[in-house]
Amino acid sequence: MESAEKRILVLHGPNLNLLGSREPAVYGSTTLQEINASLQQRAASLGVAVDCFQSNYEGALIERIQQAPGVYAAILINPAALTHYSYALRDALAAAALPVLEVHLSNIFSREPFRHHSVISPLARGVICGLGPEGYLLGLEALVKILQQEEKKRLSSMHVRQQA
Ligand code: DQA
Repeated sequence: MESAEKRILVLHGPNLNLLGSREPAVYGSTTLQEINASLQQRAASLGVAVDCFQSNYEGALIERIQQAPGVYAAILINPAALTHYSYALRDALAAAALPVLEVHLSNIFSREPFRHHSVISPLARGVICGLGPEGYLLGLEALVKILQQEEKKRLSSMHVRQQA
């Protein structure tokens, strides 16, 4: 499906709507709107589209993930606190079976012990943390590269099958 190869869903979990004013010593002063705008800009330069969605509700994020297959090619997610305990979010991502890139603004490993574990990471293609808003852009670039590599593999296996 042509369009499913070009759209990336960006999900932000609980409390990330407060970025800019929330614990600036930890999360910096960049707002979520600014992060989303820079993602839109980078996406355009990479030749993909992004749709950004934030919710403080686990169920709302899960519903967006359930609707993603066939519409989006990959998911870039900062699950926020849900990272550490939401098996429901984890299961939704597993069911969607799309490439997932997990991002955190802060270095979760240098913080409280409860933040050291992610129930999402085992099914993520990669995890970026501690790089602030730049992490989202690097995550987007990584996902685009992953999609390009998968497309290349798909085309070359089609080619091999046609030759056989
Ligand atoms: C966070 C880290 C989480 O531990 C925390 O609950 C958040 C934000 C980050 O981006 O650093 O809300 O995901």
